[in-house]
Order: sequence, then C-alpha cells, then structure tokens
Amino acid sequence: MKKLVLVLKTEAFDRVDWWIEHLTSRVPNLEVRHWPDVGAEDEIDYALVWKPVPGDLKRYSNVKAIFSIGAGVDHIFVDPDLPAGVPITRMIDPNMTLRMTEYVALHVLRYHRRQPEYDALQRNREWRELEQPHAGERTVGILGLGELGASAARALVMLGFDVAGWSRSPKQVDGVESFAGEAGLKPFLARSETVACLLPLTDETRGILNADAFAAMPKGSAVINAARGGHVVVDDLIAALDSGQLQGATLDVFEPEPLPPEHPLWVHPKVTITPHVAAITDPRSSCDQVAENIRRVEAGEPLLNVVDAAKGY
Ligand code: NAP
Ligand code: GLV
Repeated sequence: MKKLVLVLKTEAFDRVDWWIEHLTSRVPNLEVRHWPDVGAEDEIDYALVWKPVPGDLKRYSNVKAIFSIGAGVDHIFVDPDLPAGVPITRMIDPNMTLRMTEYVALHVLRYHRRQPEYDALQRNREWRELEQPHAGERTVGILGLGELGASAARALVMLGFDVAGWSRSPKQVDGVESFAGEAGLKPFLARSETVACLLPLTDETRGILNADAFAAMPKGSAVINAARGGHVVVDDLIAALDSGQLQGATLDVFEPEPLPPEHPLWVHPKVTITPHVAAITDPRSSCDQVAENIRRVEAGEPLLNVVDAAKGY
C-alpha cells in the first residue's frame, strides 16, 4: 500500500473528502493521510501539499516526490529545510489556465470599457457617454509569459489588444511583443496601459510592482495582480492610486491571506478585490496529474512539471 500525506491547510482548500475521493479513485492501493495525522513519518511515499509548515516535509524520510497543489511553488520554497534530492512538481492544468485567462480578460476588458467609471456614474444617476478607444489602441502587458501568462496574452490578442509580455528569456507568442530580462522591464512597462502580473514569486520578483514600476507606466494605467501578494509593494500602490498615476488596481492575492478586515485596500475606491480565486486548482484534473506522476515514479520514468529549485519556479 502506497501512502500519501495530504497537506490542505487553508480555508480555500478544505474539501479534504473530495481530494481523498479523487486521489483514491485514480491511484490503486493508495492510503491518504491528512496532515497532521500522518502516522509513522517514514511510511510516507508522497506528499501533496499547499502551504506546508516549514520543516515539516523533511520529517518524511522516504518521500519520493512532493506535489504542489498549486501552479506556484513559493509556498514550498519558503521552507529552508526541504528534503534534499526529492523532486517537486507543480500543477499545469488546462482548466486552471482557462480560468486565469478568463480572469485577466475580464479585468482588462473592464478597464478598457471604462466600467469602473460607468459604475461611478451610475451611483450618481448620471447618463453620460465616455470616449471609447478600440482595443487595438490599448496596450496591455503581461508580466510572466509562462503557462498562464502566454494563454492570457493569446486571448487578449484575439480580442484585438496590442499585447506585450515580459519574461526571463525571450518568447515567441503569435501577435505578442516579447520583452525579456532586467533590461526589458522598463521599456515593457512604459508601453503598457494595463499590466497583469502572472509571475512566480521568487527573490527576484518580490516587490516588482513598486513605485519605480508604477512611475514607468503611462499615467492612468491599471494593474491586475493575480500572481502573489508579495509582488506588490502595497504602500507604493496606494500612493500611485492616490496621485492618479494609476487609475485602478485589481488584486486577487495578498500578503497575508486572508486580507485582514482592517486593511486599507478593502475600502480603497480604486481597488477591486477578489479572495485568491482567479484560478483555483480543480481536484478532478489535478488528481489525474498526481496519479500520472505516481505511476511515473513507480515506473522509473521522468516526472511531469518538475520545478527548478535553483530558479524557484
Ligand atoms: P510559469 O509557467 O512558470 O511561468 C512563469 C513566467 O514568469 C515565465 O515566463 C518566466 O520566464 C517568468 N519569470 C520568472 N521569473 C522571472 C524573472 N526574474 N524575470 C522575468 N521573468 C520571469 O508559471 P505559471 O504557471 O504561468 O504561473 C505563474 C504564477 O501564477 C504562479 O507561480 C502562481 O504564483 C500564480 N497563480 C495564481 C493563481 C491564482 O488563483 N491567483 C492561480 C495559479 C497560479 P521564463 O519562461 O523565461 O523562465
Ligand atoms: C494558486 O495560487 C496556485 O499557485 O495555483
């Protein structure tokens, strides 16, 4: 009997029975132990985790693979004491990618069609038409042109926007202008009236949405952050919104989560908040991927979607 420890620690992922049902229906002879009731630690073969407590994973001395429940792995790499040499995989799931594409398109369109301004007019019972540029006259920039960013960029191209992406290495995505590396960041920001962040959170990308970045964007730009809260320097964001440098911000992710009730972002008139729901992991498709990776471990085959510990994503 194989044994997997399931670490589901937050309110967003508390449907333990659902996960166990989907895992055991896909993996023959699997016993799932829900953290913290792990039993004998050296019996654990696999760990499927979301925000494990730092130091916990190294207790499983015979673990063969660690699977992230999310696309991101920052919640694992915050642990300075991970078991050495154990592969870590992340979710790449077409359902999740589509959800994120919907989220980015929804909010890019919302700024493009001036919906926050129409909402304000409605509150004043004011019937007024606002000037409406064509999509092709709007520049949109995607920070991170990976699985999620490239998909969102393609959808925005299909909607007619003038789209660019920024990544570590240059990319070829049809219709998308590619900017790369540190040298490419400022020119990318300078041409982007709406910037959507879909970067992994690493030492290099933490705080990337800061005063310098906002100042580099055209006046009146909008920011969408669906990546991680740590990408945004909140005080700089609020200052840029208050000065009018930014017209609005749509934020799905925060540090900490949940966003505390007293936090000023909740009530800022130019901020739209969603509770980390842009692209939630779907246990059905994700358990297919976990099952396939367990099969691969046992067959001695290379795993799917292994992350690079040196890069942190
Ligand atoms: P991914 O496929 O690994 O793509 C990451 C992209 O970021 C790549 O294009 C990469 O460039 C670029 N990048 C990384 N570090 C960089 C740096 N220092 N400078 C420039 N570019 C850099 O990741 P993904 O699957 O698209 O997911 C992105 C993030 O979205 C996840 O890490 C997670 O935090 C977040 N997420 C949020 C939700 C939500 O519900 N809010 C859901 C899922 C995921 P290269 O390709 O050149 O390496
Ligand atoms: C969610 O935030 C994920 O990383 O999948």
